[in-house]
Amino acid sequence: MVASSPLVKMQSLHKSYGDGAVQVLKGIDIEMKPGERLVVIGPSGGGKSTLLRVMMGLEQIDSGSITFAGQPYVSSASREKKTLIDTEVRRSIGMVFQHYTLFPHLNILQNLVLAPRKVRNEPKASAEARALSLLERFGLAAKARAYPAQLSGGQKQRVAIARALMLDPKLMLFDEVTSALDPELVSEVEHVIMQLADQDMPMMIVTHDMWFAKNIASRVIFCAGGVVVEDGPPEQVLGSPREERTREFIERVFHIKQ
Ligand SMILES: Nc1ncnc2c1ncn2[C@@H]1O[C@H](COP(=O)(O)OP(=O)(O)O)[C@@H](O)[C@H]1O
Ligand SMILES: [Mg+2]
Repeated sequence: MVASSPLVKMQSLHKSYGDGAVQVLKGIDIEMKPGERLVVIGPSGGGKSTLLRVMMGLEQIDSGSITFAGQPYVSSASREKKTLIDTEVRRSIGMVFQHYTLFPHLNILQNLVLAPRKVRNEPKASAEARALSLLERFGLAAKARAYPAQLSGGQKQRVAIARALMLDPKLMLFDEVTSALDPELVSEVEHVIMQLADQDMPMMIVTHDMWFAKNIASRVIFCAGGVVVEDGPPEQVLGSPREERTREFIERVFHIKQ
């Protein structure tokens, strides 16, 4: 990969639900460089989750394309009304959702080794060793044999992050991962994400947490009405937005008067 080439290049992404009845993405163009940490903010229902789900191949698109590290990744073949996706690339993207998605009948260690064993045929011993070292790093070593129901919400989210890391992602997507947590559990999850940031993991983060957005973002994108309204460094987009719509949103959601 050429140093200056983008990690992700989304071009004119269009997406609707219900046979075109609800247009959610109306031409999204986002270019993300390697090592960038992109925070996406915007009103509820604005398509942030849809955008991340498209990145994970969980949603079809109507038109547009995404390249990943210069390779075609997602494209729409309009004649067949089908979205084409490179499954190898998809495996190099990890995602954590707002609601924990751990398998309840598997213990934490089993949750972590499942994908690498299935997808990569990784030997059990090696997958378990990697899992234990990740759990150690996230302060969860003592929970390896516990079941999800025995963990706090914050611990579950940290496990979900560790599980995504088991496939050595080249990009991590976080969709409001602390929104469902009790306030006192938020920082332990944000701390783990900031640890990943310190190791230069590229990430796209949807959050309503202003403190977190300011501290983690190398760039902030304000999405509303299915388009990118404003895109720039956090000091600008969060601190002195150029667009009236961004200013109004930040005042309302973050209670900060500009
Ligand atoms: N599976 C779906 N079927 C129909 N409509 C959907 C579906 N998922 C999301 N939507 C609609 O698409 C819009 C964008 O949703 P979403 O991407 O979840 O926005 P955000 O994450 O910014 O709140 C909303 O109006 C939502 O109701
Ligand atoms: Mg959402």
